[in-house]
Amino acid sequence: MTVHFIGAGPGAPDLITLRGRDLIARCPVCLYAGSLVPAALLAYCPPGARVINTAPLDLAAIIDACAEATAQGQDVARLHSGDLSVWSAMGEQLRELDARGIPYSITPGVPSFAAAAAALGRELTVPEVAQSLVLTRTSGRASAMPPGETLSNFAQTGATLAIHLSIHVLSQVVAELTPYYGPNCPAAIVFRASWPDEIILRGTLETLDAQAAATPMERTALILVGPGLGARDFRPSALYSADYDRRFRPQRASE
Ligand SMILES: C[S@@+](CC[C@H](N)C(=O)[O-])C[C@H]1O[C@@H](n2cnc3c(N)ncnc32)[C@H](O)[C@@H]1O
Repeated sequence: MTVHFIGAGPGAPDLITLRGRDLIARCPVCLYAGSLVPAALLAYCPPGARVINTAPLDLAAIIDACAEATAQGQDVARLHSGDLSVWSAMGEQLRELDARGIPYSITPGVPSFAAAAAALGRELTVPEVAQSLVLTRTSGRASAMPPGETLSNFAQTGATLAIHLSIHVLSQVVAELTPYYGPNCPAAIVFRASWPDEIILRGTLETLDAQAAATPMERTALILVGPGLGARDFRPSALYSADYDRRFRPQRASE
């Protein structure tokens, strides 16, 4: 029996993968991270499934629930918001399952930064302006940042930053980034990307704080900062240029 970790996507229930949806439909037990996983996904659970919100549980209780189900011959669907590779707390669960010899699988999901970029209508990498995206956060109660992973260190690169779990310290984020990016650097906040109550704020580092203060928002928001967010007259990617096609397509065809 297997615990299937499934990325539930950023919020819209139709942004789960087909594999994820089909696994939910096959598993008689479903554990879901209640605060961010859309309840509509639970409708895919089979009739009579045991559905457990893990928000009030600690790690030991979550692993016990998985162990109990698998010992009874039941597969488990374990849902986390967005993708599982970032800030899902999947790592510690995998470690415990390994220790108990319980098999698992991992099905990726649409991460919130991708949903936020879609909401903004932007590509986050722009030729010759920004070719790197930093997924980061600020220190929180649950985890402190490793010493080198400061916003100012990342800011020195000029890359696009997607700052998670930090809307409550927006002023601090703006103050730390402004010396590097400048007050006119494009910046945005996407609150609950892909949910029905999604809010998008577009501005600059200078305006963002006041815009956010004037907007009632909960914590589920991403802060995006970087020159790439506002770039309009950038050089197009060589990938689709006529020259590039003429020179390389015939070679590709003969490969
Ligand atoms: C615990 S982390 C989960 C990240 C998730 N695993 C992912 O792939 O995006 C929660 C943080 O992700 C961001 N987040 C998650 N869903 C979001 C959404 N729909 N819109 C904007 N930000 C979101 C927020 O910064 C939030 O504080």
